[in-house]
Amino acid sequence: MGKKLLLGITLICVLALAVYGSTGQTGQQHNLGRVLILYYTWSEHAYTERAARIIQGLTNATMIKVEPLIPFPELNTRDMIAWVGEQRRNQLWPEIRELGVDPASFDFIFIGTPVWHQTVALPIETLLRETDFGGRPVACFALANNFEGQVLNRFAGLIRNAQVREGIAFRTTTETRFEARLTQWVNGMSR
Ligand SMILES: Cc1cc2nc3c(=O)[nH]c(=O)nc-3n(C[C@H](O)[C@H](O)[C@H](O)COP(=O)(O)O)c2cc1C
Repeated sequence: MGKKLLLGITLICVLALAVYGSTGQTGQQHNLGRVLILYYTWSEHAYTERAARIIQGLTNATMIKVEPLIPFPELNTRDMIAWVGEQRRNQLWPEIRELGVDPASFDFIFIGTPVWHQTVALPIETLLRETDFGGRPVACFALANNFEGQVLNRFAGLIRNAQVREGIAFRTTTETRFEARLTQWVNGMSR
């Protein structure tokens, strides 16, 4: 009888360890609670949106694109770079559409941005300047062509009332492990 009981307890412990161990190892989505992804994307490749979708797959997040209230002029990349530079020089931050959610009501927030002039894209700049993140943990993912510059520091300097977690920046022209690195980064986050 005593032996059977001992065997039973051992079996339960082994099962519990197997279940707990596997969750701990993969660092799954439910660790982060209710997750929100706010992102902007502009180029035809939609790299930032692709990254957002991967994060959504890992975290089951609510995903919202941050949009300028008045659409940007339709320009080719070269002219867009010049136009955005002009906007920046004049500190003309575009109004953005209502998000439709309160970011502070989420447990964890990812914010994705293309790198523009070595900092965040204009709509994300407005978002960071105008939003109160209610002290929530926030992490930035940024997609550059070949030089991300100070984007993650700028992000940290602009955001209001948030716990800034270590961000990640990719150089799309040379990156070879995009999905693996992004997944590892997300799985390394905790509330
Ligand atoms: C206005 C503008 C400024 C940019 N500035 C930079 C830059 O400073 N460094 C860089 O590596 N790429 C720069 N790029 C390229 C984008 O960061 C890159 O194409 C990005 O991956 C696009 O993300 P998306 O596909 O989500 O729009 C710039 C692009 C635009 C349109």
